[in-house]
Amino acid sequence: MSPRDEIIHSDEFGNKAEAFEAFDDIPTNPNLSTTIGDVINTRYGRRDVLRGALGVSATTALFGTSALVAPTSANASTAADSRYIFDELQWGNDEAHHIAEGYNADVLVRWGDPITADAPEFDVMNQTAAAQSQQFGYNNDYVGFAEIEPGRGMLCVNHEYTNEEVMFPGLGRQDRDGFKGMTRDLVDIEMAAHGGSVFEIVKSAEGAWSVNRNNPANRRITANTPMTFDGPAAGNPRLRTSADPAGMTVLGTINNCAGGMTPWGTYLMAEENFHGYFWSDVVDSEGKVDISAQPEAESMKRYGVPGRWYAWGQYHDRFNIDKEPNEPNRFGYIVEVDPLNPDAMPIKHTALGRFRHEGAEAIVAADGKLVIYSGDDNRFDYQYKWVSAEAVTSENSHFGSTLLSEGTLYVARFNADGVVDWLPLVHGQGPLTAENGFDSQADIAIDTRMAADALGATPMDRPEDAQPGPNGTAYLMLTNNSRRKPEQVDAANPRPQSNFGHIIEIKEDGENHSATKGTWDIVVLCGDPTIADVGARWNPETSENGWFSSPDNCAFDDSGRLWISTDQGSGWGRTGKSDGLYSLETEGDLRGHSKLFFRCPVGGELCGPYFADNSETLFLAVQHPGTDGTKDLVGFERASTFEDPATRWPDFEPNMPPRPSVVVVTKEGGGKIAV
Ligand code: FEO
Ligand code: CA
Ligand code: CA
Repeated sequence: MSPRDEIIHSDEFGNKAEAFEAFDDIPTNPNLSTTIGDVINTRYGRRDVLRGALGVSATTALFGTSALVAPTSANASTAADSRYIFDELQWGNDEAHHIAEGYNADVLVRWGDPITADAPEFDVMNQTAAAQSQQFGYNNDYVGFAEIEPGRGMLCVNHEYTNEEVMFPGLGRQDRDGFKGMTRDLVDIEMAAHGGSVFEIVKSAEGAWSVNRNNPANRRITANTPMTFDGPAAGNPRLRTSADPAGMTVLGTINNCAGGMTPWGTYLMAEENFHGYFWSDVVDSEGKVDISAQPEAESMKRYGVPGRWYAWGQYHDRFNIDKEPNEPNRFGYIVEVDPLNPDAMPIKHTALGRFRHEGAEAIVAADGKLVIYSGDDNRFDYQYKWVSAEAVTSENSHFGSTLLSEGTLYVARFNADGVVDWLPLVHGQGPLTAENGFDSQADIAIDTRMAADALGATPMDRPEDAQPGPNGTAYLMLTNNSRRKPEQVDAANPRPQSNFGHIIEIKEDGENHSATKGTWDIVVLCGDPTIADVGARWNPETSENGWFSSPDNCAFDDSGRLWISTDQGSGWGRTGKSDGLYSLETEGDLRGHSKLFFRCPVGGELCGPYFADNSETLFLAVQHPGTDGTKDLVGFERASTFEDPATRWPDFEPNMPPRPSVVVVTKEGGGKIAV
């Protein structure tokens, strides 16, 4: 049995999304001497590190007390100490969402809700692609907001992927039997549920937000929406297909994870795990996909193409690499959308490189250049940033600006002395020459990972969101990497088999985000600080509610304070905690102190977060509620299905499955959050 089939058929993984993520545990970075090994045992042999399974007294005996960073008392943090003024929430994991006392957390929009004037009402038992393409999509991840005027603006939401087993009645899990239940109609609904939603929301006099379906600019972006390319790879022969002989137009965007908003109010959608949507019927004698005859086999291998985690290629030739070998080269980019102009075709900006883009958070640097940080979310992949050639001006601050096509993409090398070097991915410089397979800047834009391999960038513990902050800082979420071996540990990724992740702070030279050098430091090493072999490091004032695992998304509020949301995936049983939103102190005596503000219903990850409305409004996205790791929910202890989910959040109606939803947080009585 191939490693992929072993994972698919393992009882450890309750649904396809968990199996997909576990398979991606196998790194594709060739600069490592790793073997495939036993993913299941290394990553999911979790019961030995379950909370309480390794007690404090036992670990003290084994490791001594110096390794412990226990809170001085459960309630050591006080409002007077913290810059974040709220009473910490109690940790836990159950069917509902929870918010700190004194705040409202209201569901704003759910999967299936109509977002255009003529969209049909949601009918979960009679879903169609036509209806879905006018309704809010599935698995909301990034949330951005383009304000039109105070109390009114366009909400921009990414729809990352679909969970067929809780989305469609009577279907169940599909990856174990070759997607036999996936009809063309179901595939087309999935394709319409991907992409993004752009729609107006308004705030009432009482302070409640709601969707305005009647703005004609409201639109869905799906896996079928026409878009164009710009930048060095646009029109390149490697982007040409039978449907697009010019290599200039592509249908759709997929697996849009995090994203960003530009300073001029356009919406950036990051294409992350695009490899999973491509199919091939060419298999070896063991049934393992065989790409050796593909002309781009080396590139496909580095990117994990074809993943075969969706049946789309069985009905749409462009997702079958046997028929359209160049189609995968047209995904993995940053896509720009004009939220106010529904006729503006989205643009894939190839200059920002092709990889499993987690996000695209932008800032105007001290020297006026536009800088965008973006991580490549794979174990042992890299942290990147884009620096525009020109400074931002009123003339170039518009949709489709050359600020996103002319500039330099850099990849990070974290040196042991605390210096980070940003290495330019520029054709003709260093090893990035034709002799090494890079014929032009287009090849670097398409095979960005391989160019970064050649430069010797630092393989990281899964770079998720990266947020530029005040005074030339940036914060990087390294979510976890169970595959790092003791001999592969380095200063910036200091723990072997890191199940809980860490956060790195960068200070760019001269407080200028466009600098090619800076310093770096680790803010926190995540996980339970009372279990010595976890090796966590928090501010000692952090309570048992406040520590977290697997940082994923992050945002600053308008007071310049950092907030972190988490995604433990199916591994939440290691902590017992649901995913949630945490404040995180970055300065002063409380640096590394976090507090729990919001937590998800079971099985969900928390995305967004996005502060708007002078930080009086906070948007949070609860993604895939009721799915991940539900075997570890006491009393449920099985995988969720449409008919039998671990939670029916947020409707809690008998025949309605859980629905991914955006939640809007406001303070009771109004005012800035956590002030
Ligand atoms: Fe889609 Fe890297 O999380
Ligand atoms: Ca993410
Ligand atoms: Ca995630």
